[in-house]
Amino acid sequence: MKLLITGGAGFIGSNFVHHVNKNYPEYDIVNLDLLTYAGNLENLKSIEKNPHYKFIKGDICNKKLVNDLVKDCHIVIHFAAESHVDRSILDSAAFIHTNIVGTHNLLEAAKNNGNKRFHHVSTDEVYGSLGPDDPAFHESTPYDPRSPYSASKAASDHLVRSYYHTHNLPITISNCSNNYGPHHFPEKIIPLFITNLIEGKKVPLYGDGLNIRDWLYVEDHCHAIDKIIHHGKIGETYCVGGGCELTNKELTYKILNQLGSGEEMIEFVTDRPGHDRRYAIDFSKIKTELGWKPSVTFDEGLAKTIQWYRENENWWKNIKSGEYQKYYSQNYGKR
Ligand code: NAD
Ligand code: TYD
Repeated sequence: MKLLITGGAGFIGSNFVHHVNKNYPEYDIVNLDLLTYAGNLENLKSIEKNPHYKFIKGDICNKKLVNDLVKDCHIVIHFAAESHVDRSILDSAAFIHTNIVGTHNLLEAAKNNGNKRFHHVSTDEVYGSLGPDDPAFHESTPYDPRSPYSASKAASDHLVRSYYHTHNLPITISNCSNNYGPHHFPEKIIPLFITNLIEGKKVPLYGDGLNIRDWLYVEDHCHAIDKIIHHGKIGETYCVGGGCELTNKELTYKILNQLGSGEEMIEFVTDRPGHDRRYAIDFSKIKTELGWKPSVTFDEGLAKTIQWYRENENWWKNIKSGEYQKYYSQNYGKR
């Protein structure tokens, strides 16, 4: 079995590369990644010399490269994306390029090389924003993306589904809630807050801090994708979630508590424009059909994550320098 993994140097992709290597050591993995600001080969150091693993630096929009790599694999597992909502608010061009044009390019290559098996990794953000009493998102919730990031992911989901209906491409899609864990780039709330507190800095909470996210430990997401690529029904979508809804304030208090910091470390800052209020996932389909459910509780997952950031200070200190800091200070002022 030869897997083409796109975006395998990023947060979830690199965790998935390690998951496959650990659980299916006989599988060959080709990791195609452009190494944007979010791609980090440090995430893959322990596997780089493994004969079953190969890294290719390249753009999923490069037609010839993608065609050659897809031709030579059995299944494409597509993680590569521009993934940060705040960046999509400031400049969405790369989101259209990678998330839409890049996905289309991969689909064309899969179609033109004997209809290769294709799994598309997507997000619950395509479904929009829930009110406090709305039922959780499920596979037939209408799409209602509200940020350039989620709109570009929604477009890619539609393209993937269209290749199934039009060209019979054997696809599956997973729409997952917010992940956290090792290798998470410290621009997202959990790693940003953990690393800020380790450095003695305050944590910037947007708006009233009452927006709700449903959190899933990254290894559980990798298990879900593993189940779907091996046992999922072709043409189907699976919603994947942690069953763990927290307001950002509740989440912040949990991080503060585990790190022994007080609430004076919270700094309320200007809200994100178009900030989705609540995400929640009903994962009963994947639970019933494929026997998947989250295995790590939030408190356990957070403790493991904090431990990883404590033990890997070099990893995040290298990232949290220069450009990153300028980017935030220019765009998110104090209230
Ligand atoms: P990430 O930003 O950490 O990693 C993205 C990776 O894609 C990086 O390694 C980057 O270098 C690579 N990449 C970007 N543009 C590329 C291009 N044009 N060609 C090749 N490689 C390119 O993202 P992540 O958080 O690991 O998310 C992975 C996937 O999972 C995304 O599709 C995202 O939409 C989806 N997802 C993420 C979450 C989450 O909470 N992070 C939740 C649900 C779904
Ligand atoms: P984020 O980690 O960017 O994920 P997403 O927007 O994809 O859900 O943000 C998670 C939540 O945390 C979201 O409601 C915005 C909020 N947030 C803050 O309050 N402060 C921050 O510095 C960041 C990055 C996010």
